Amino acid sequence: MYFFTFVKMKILKNHSLKQYNTFGLECTADFFVEVYSLTDIEIVFAKKEFQSIPKLILGGGSNILLYDVFKGLVVKMCLTGIKDYGNGIIKVAAGENWHDFVLWTLDNGYNGLENLSLIPGSTGAAPMQNIGAYGVEIKDCFVELEALHISSKVLHTFSKKDCQFGYRESIFKSSEKGNYIICSMTLQLKNDGLLNLGYGVINNVLEQRCISSPTAKDVSDAVISIRKSKLPDPNKIGNSGSFFKNPVISMNLFNSIKDRWCDIPSFPAKHDFVKVPAGWLIEKAGWKGKRFSECGVHNKQALVLVNHGSASGEEIFNLATMIQSSIFELFEINLQIEVNIIGKQTE
Ligand code: EPU
Repeated sequence: MYFFTFVKMKILKNHSLKQYNTFGLECTADFFVEVYSLTDIEIVFAKKEFQSIPKLILGGGSNILLYDVFKGLVVKMCLTGIKDYGNGIIKVAAGENWHDFVLWTLDNGYNGLENLSLIPGSTGAAPMQNIGAYGVEIKDCFVELEALHISSKVLHTFSKKDCQFGYRESIFKSSEKGNYIICSMTLQLKNDGLLNLGYGVINNVLEQRCISSPTAKDVSDAVISIRKSKLPDPNKIGNSGSFFKNPVISMNLFNSIKDRWCDIPSFPAKHDFVKVPAGWLIEKAGWKGKRFSECGVHNKQALVLVNHGSASGEEIFNLATMIQSSIFELFEINLQIEVNIIGKQTE
């Protein structure tokens, strides 16, 4: 059922978001619209009836946890297009699928994004949380992005510095949260074939495949097979990838944990701090593979919470809270949730 129609847009009422979030959670939005251009966005946001209601800008829905009702307007970004300006400068519209875009760059002879293969979601969401995997983050090749300021309807350009990128962080998740719609992003890619092979598991796969001089495509294939072996496919079992961030803790705390668990892994962080894998902490606390009715903790990667079929957002959130308490009790570490919680908790 639709409410009213523009040239291409349909504004739908009481629309299910189940197919628009990789957790596969049932959630009804008061209003829902797919936008295909900046003009579409401007038309929708100019409507009087939407001025004062909450808005949710949806990309691939791969980093959100939805409660059962969204009392507002959901805007699904469907802006597409990739433009090659030469010398590795590529501009991509926010609605393009991230992994398809990575494959496009490889097919066109560019390297730089291969380690970020198979990350679910849209390109517009990539800078939002500075996506990262296997030693590479989007900020490494980021030039600028264009974002529409929701209240003034002015299109702003954000440089890399303006975006204030951090570990799974940007200005769009902190001080400017909810104020902008990311419309496009420009990257500087390379065609020098130089690869980031610092992550041991990638080398292991290349060695198994007897590849001694890998191409960017070989690295992408290796990353795809690693991700497929460890992370659940959202098309088969609902999930949103890493549910928590890897915590950064003081050397003192790390040493006191190491006295009890000598096998705790760590990665370098700022001076006197180390990053520890949340997946290891959650596994040590006994949660890995546990199922609670319709939700649970993935059996191959404890950092990933899963929807076994008909879990609600609230059930998954409650499981996350129990995990956080148990990690604090055992290690005195506050685990931070990485995914965006949408609905009851944020109202
Ligand atoms: N580990 C365990 N048990 C587990 C999971 C992990 O002991 O169940 C330990 C192992 O020691 C392993 C270490 O944790 O060696 C690191 O695990 P992994 O390489 O799987 O990486 P991660 O730190 O758990 C991060 C990202 C992933 C990204 C991988 C690879 C975050 C929050 N997550 O996970 O990103 O794919 O590194 O670079 O930083 C995502 O954001 O959705 C995501 C999957």
